[in-house]
Parts: sequence; C-alpha cells; structure tokens
Amino acid sequence: MTAAHGPSAHDHAAHDHAAAHDHATRAASFQAGASNYAAVRPAYPQAAVDFLLGAVPHPHPSTPPRVLDLAAGTGKLTASLVTRDLDVVAIDPSAAMLAELAASLPDVETHRATAEAIPVVTASVDAVVVGQAWHWFDEPAASAEIARILRHGGTLGVVWNMRDTSRDWVARFGEILHRGDRLEPVADHVAPRLGAQYDDVEHESFPWADDIATASLRPLAASRSYLLTLPDDERETLLAAVDELVATHPDLAGRDRVALPYVAHAYRARRR
Ligand SMILES: C[S@@+](CC[C@H](N)C(=O)[O-])C[C@H]1O[C@@H](n2cnc3c(N)ncnc32)[C@H](O)[C@@H]1O
Repeated sequence: MTAAHGPSAHDHAAHDHAAAHDHATRAASFQAGASNYAAVRPAYPQAAVDFLLGAVPHPHPSTPPRVLDLAAGTGKLTASLVTRDLDVVAIDPSAAMLAELAASLPDVETHRATAEAIPVVTASVDAVVVGQAWHWFDEPAASAEIARILRHGGTLGVVWNMRDTSRDWVARFGEILHRGDRLEPVADHVAPRLGAQYDDVEHESFPWADDIATASLRPLAASRSYLLTLPDDERETLLAAVDELVATHPDLAGRDRVALPYVAHAYRARRR
C-alpha cells in the first residue's frame, strides 16, 4: 500500500508560480478600470491624512516639504495632499490611472514607475504616502527603496480604507466581492513590515462613512482587481449578486443613497 503523499516541492513551486502570476496580473489590472475607479472609489478622511503627515520634517523653511504619493492611482490620496503646503509628486505604474490623476490635478508632477524602482534622487523626499496599495508591493524591496529616497527623519505613511463589516449589508457585499477568489485573502490592514532603517511603526484607525448612491455599489464592485481580472461571464454573475443585494436587503432596497462605513487604518514610521 502506498502512503498518501502531501503536495510535492514541485506542486508548491507550481502553486507559488501561479499565485505570483495572479498577484502580478491583479496589481496591473487597475489600468483597465481607471475612469470607473476615479468615479466610485472612496477618498480618505482628513484626520487619517493628518496622522500620515503628522511628523513630516520641514528642513528648508523657504520651501514646502517634498511628499511622494506612491501608487497614487487616480489621485484619491493626492487630492488631500495638494490642499496643504506641500511639494507633491505622484508615482504609479499605470498610464491610465495617472491620466485620470492629471485630469483632476493637472499641477501635480507625475512619473510612471513602481515602488521597487522609484525614479527619485537618494535622500530627496521628506515623506512617502501609500494609499490602498502597499499589499501590491514586493515589501522588502519597496521598503528599502523608500528608505533610499527618504531624508533621515522623513516619514513613511501607509493607509487602507477597510469596509466596516459590522453592518449586515456591508458583510454581505464583502462576501460577494471575494466569492471564488483563488488568491489568499489579503489582510490589508496588517502593519507594513519595514527594515531596520525605520523606527517602530505607529498605528491609528479612523472610522468614517462614505455617503454613496446605492446604484454605485455595482461599479464599486467592478472597480476591484479581482473582478477586473475575471472572465466577463463570471464578473457578470458577481455583479448580478450585488444588484440582487441592493434590490432586496432591507437597508438598501428602495433607497437612493446609503452610508458605506469604513475604518481607515493608518500606519506611519520614521526613517532613522
Ligand atoms: C487600489 S489602487 C490605489 C490608488 C490610490 N493610491 C488610491 O488610494 O486610490 C492600487 C494602485 O497601485 C498601483 N500599483 C500596483 N503595483 C504597484 C507597484 N509595484 N508599485 C507601485 N504602484 C503599484 C496600481 O497601478 C494602482 O494604481
């Protein structure tokens, strides 16, 4: 009788390769949904942005601190930076996402690049902020590259908007969004793991709500990387489930608008 064998090293390697491929495909998928993303994704509460920027040094009193929005996408976080006295630069690998950003924030300097190879001079930036994107990075490479471009005493701030699933309809919405997802569920609000170049990571959470049209729950679902990378028929099945939730859940049915509750989880660390 042969003993039952667990997965072989080859199986693991094949799985790792497939997962890495899926991850890379998902990270690149925002290119296809940029205008929808700009229209329906949430911004960030000002208090969370204050926390991210709380300790930004101001080395030259005559010029504003230089702040990099990394993985800036369509500029959801950038829009909060430009209202402050900051010299803002936005970087993202997606041309389509940056085109949306340039349309709404035409004065912001932009560059197409990734977090693992940032086209910025060493020790030239006072703060780096990352909204809803740290989980797409190669974490050791990105944290080392950010440490390279930050001045000593500069800060790295990372934020995620997480839906508050204590409301039944929000939990059900989230279940649909992840239904059948083959990638490991990403625990988006796990603290970023940074290298020895940084002080300890600080964390604060900021509950808030986005007042949205119930009709925008469908495009909000469609803006997610998982749905963007699904075959059309499978995506349509999930979107039909969102439509049914909106039509039948007592908190949504017959309503034009609803408050979608979030908790913004913000992390920051100082470059030694
Ligand atoms: C969910 S969007 C977040 C955009 C924006 N920061 C926001 O808060 O709305 C994720 C962004 O990460 C970008 N991205 C994916 N992989 C990246 C990488 N390795 N380096 C930098 N940006 C990346 C995508 O192009 C996309 O614009």
